[in-house]
Amino acid sequence: MAKSDGSYRVKEFDLSGLTGISDKTLETHFKLYEGYVKETNRLNEKLAEFLRDGKVDQEEMPAYSELTRRLGFEYNGMVLHEYYFGNLTRSGGGDPQSQSRFRTAAEHSFGSYETWKVDFVGVGKMRGVGWAICYQDPATGRLSNHWITLHEVGNVAGFTPILVMDVWEHAFLLDYKPSERDKYIEAFLANVDWQAVERRTGAEHAGPVEHRGEQRRFA
Ligand SMILES: [Fe+2]
Repeated sequence: MAKSDGSYRVKEFDLSGLTGISDKTLETHFKLYEGYVKETNRLNEKLAEFLRDGKVDQEEMPAYSELTRRLGFEYNGMVLHEYYFGNLTRSGGGDPQSQSRFRTAAEHSFGSYETWKVDFVGVGKMRGVGWAICYQDPATGRLSNHWITLHEVGNVAGFTPILVMDVWEHAFLLDYKPSERDKYIEAFLANVDWQAVERRTGAEHAGPVEHRGEQRRFA
C-alpha cells in the first residue's frame, strides 16, 4: 500500500498459529518481505533523483539502467509476498466450496479441481528458486499454474494472481529440510484461505475455456 508521499508501506499480517509453518518462520519471512518494501522505496527515490533535472544524461544511463532493471525483482518480491501472506489463515485448509467461483474455474480449466491441485503441487515441487502461482486470465476466466523464477521471471502481464505459494527455501527451512519441500507444500495447503482466493477470482468470465479463442480474436 502506498503512503501519501508515494512510497510503499509494510503491510501487517496476523498469521501466528498456522499449521506446519512456525511463528519463527513467519517472523523471519516478514522481515524479508519488509526488506523488499524498503528496497522498492529506495530504488524509486534514487530513480527520482535522476529525473529531478528533467532529463537522463548519457553518462547517467548505466546507473539509471541498472536501478531500473532491479525494479522487477524488488517490486515483485514485495507484491508476491503480500499475495502469499494474504492467502494464508490459521483457520484455513481443506478444499474450496463446491459451488465457488474458484472451483468452477478450476473445473473448467483443468477438467477437475483435483487435476488443478496436482498441477499446482507439481509446479511447486519444481527445482529452482521461486514461486508457484495460480493465475486467472481476466479475459477468459481460465486458470493456469505458473513457475516463477526468483520473483520476476514468468509472471504473466495482466493476469490476476489467485493463489500464490512461496517455495524459496526461506519459506520453510526452519521447519523442514531443503529436501522436504513436499512437506512444506502440504503445510501451505493446510493453511490456504479459500475465502481470500475466492475474493480474487473473477466471476464474469468464469465460463468454459472454449470461449478463449473468440475473445482473443476480438481483443
Ligand atoms: Fe519469501
